[in-house]
Amino acid sequence: MGNVVAIDRDPNVKIYADQLINDYPGRMQFMQSDFASSVGKLGSARFDGIVMDLGVSSMQLDSRARGFSFTYDGPLDMRMSHSGYSAADFINNAGEQEIADVIYQYGDETYSRKIARKIIEQRQQEPITSTSMLASIIHSSRGPRQGKIDSATKTFQALRIYVNDELGQLEQFLNNCKNILASQGKLIIVSFHSLEDRIVKNFFKANAPKLVAQSKYSAKSERMENSNKWLKVLTKKPLTPPLSEILNNPRARSAKLRAGQDFRL
Ligand SMILES: C[S@@+](CC[C@H](N)C(=O)[O-])C[C@H]1O[C@@H](n2cnc3c(N)ncnc32)[C@H](O)[C@@H]1O
Repeated sequence: MGNVVAIDRDPNVKIYADQLINDYPGRMQFMQSDFASSVGKLGSARFDGIVMDLGVSSMQLDSRARGFSFTYDGPLDMRMSHSGYSAADFINNAGEQEIADVIYQYGDETYSRKIARKIIEQRQQEPITSTSMLASIIHSSRGPRQGKIDSATKTFQALRIYVNDELGQLEQFLNNCKNILASQGKLIIVSFHSLEDRIVKNFFKANAPKLVAQSKYSAKSERMENSNKWLKVLTKKPLTPPLSEILNNPRARSAKLRAGQDFRL
């Protein structure tokens, strides 16, 4: 019988975790923590499996008060942990160039400079405190739609990734996860956008052995390089959800699952 340690930085998750703790007494624990610092907190524990389900939850997206979505008017917050620097703090205090860079880097938004300029102009009139204020600034900068999607989508994604340091968190966790994975343990990661998937893909590549010809002539440097590899890649290509799952749960459409297995003895 397995035991689970469930980790989430969002304190709102605790009440749902508590239900599972009740349903599976002695087999489940909840740790309210960000991923990056959780490895240190787990001490010498070793796990047969680590599953990372990245990004935001539907519960967060659909809650007006959390400020993740431009679909509902709410405070411009976006903090998964309810603590630290909010999206409004950033939008009302950062410089124009910094705002443009964040929107471009994390949202791949080609109108990033135009949007940043408009944000600076608007905040001189009054602070930008709500999701609807920000969405209307974006709509007026680059039109309300980009093809089928709302033109605020990319900027909201960028701010969420930035405010929660989602990429830094993922990198730090991956760099240390070797310390909590048991021999033969599996590492399974579900990501939801290309910036995350690139980090996971590069991590797997960097830690999987390269194929070296098994001959005495194979370069010593190649064999040496392989000596510190520890992860066998189980998914050559990432797994994606079938159409039936996407129809049932459209938010799954961009999910990519990659898996690896620790082969250290
Ligand atoms: C896609 S949801 C997971 C949903 C959950 N697996 C379920 O099926 O209900 C992602 C969750 O990860 C949490 N999260 C995202 N980044 C995190 C981080 N760096 N540290 C801790 N939790 C994080 C979010 O708060 C969110 O609840």
